[in-house]
Amino acid sequence: MMPQLAPTPPGWIDAVLGDFDRFLQDHASCEKKAAGMALKMASHYPDKPLLLNAMADLSVEEMSHYREVIRLLTRRGIAPAPDAKDPYIATMNRQVRRGPDFFLLDRLLIAAVVEMRGCERFGLIADALPEGAEQRFFAALNESERRHGELFLDLARQHCDAEAVGPHIDGLVRIEADIIAALPLLPRLH
Ligand SMILES: [Fe+2]
Ligand SMILES: [Fe+2]
Repeated sequence: MMPQLAPTPPGWIDAVLGDFDRFLQDHASCEKKAAGMALKMASHYPDKPLLLNAMADLSVEEMSHYREVIRLLTRRGIAPAPDAKDPYIATMNRQVRRGPDFFLLDRLLIAAVVEMRGCERFGLIADALPEGAEQRFFAALNESERRHGELFLDLARQHCDAEAVGPHIDGLVRIEADIIAALPLLPRLH
C-alpha cells in the first residue's frame, strides 16, 4: 500500500483551470519525460528482467499518454511548448543517496512518489472538469498513475531490501510534502 501524500494546496487547481492550455503544454512535456525516465531505467538495468520488462511496458504507456495530450493540444490549436525545467522533479531526484545499495531503492521510491502525486493531481482535474472526453481522459490518467505508483513500490520490494521500503518511503513522502508546499502555484503539473 502506498502511503498517503499531503494534499495539493487548493490554489493549484484554480491556477490549472485558469490557463488550461499552458497546463496541457507542460503536461505533454511531463508524459514525454516519464517515458524517457522509464527508458533510462531500462538501459541502466539490463540484468534485471522484471525491471527491464516493466520499464519497456511503462515507456510505451507514457508515450501513449504523451500522444493523447499532443492530440488534445492539436484539437485546441496550440503547439507544444519547449520542455521547461521542473524544480519539483529536480529536488526529488536530489534525494537519491550515493552508494550502490541505495541508488536503485531511492530511484524506485522517488518514482513511486512522483507517480502518486500525478495520480492525485489528475484526479483533482478529473473532478473539476465538466463531463466529457477530457474529463474521462484525466480520470483514466488518475488510475494509470496510481498503478504506476504501485508498480514502482512493488519493484522496490522485489529488487531491494523489502524491510527498508516502508520507512524510507515514509521519509520521502514527508520531504515531498515540504517540496510541494514551497512551490509556486502555476498552471503546471508540478
Ligand atoms: Fe503518464
Ligand atoms: Fe506514470
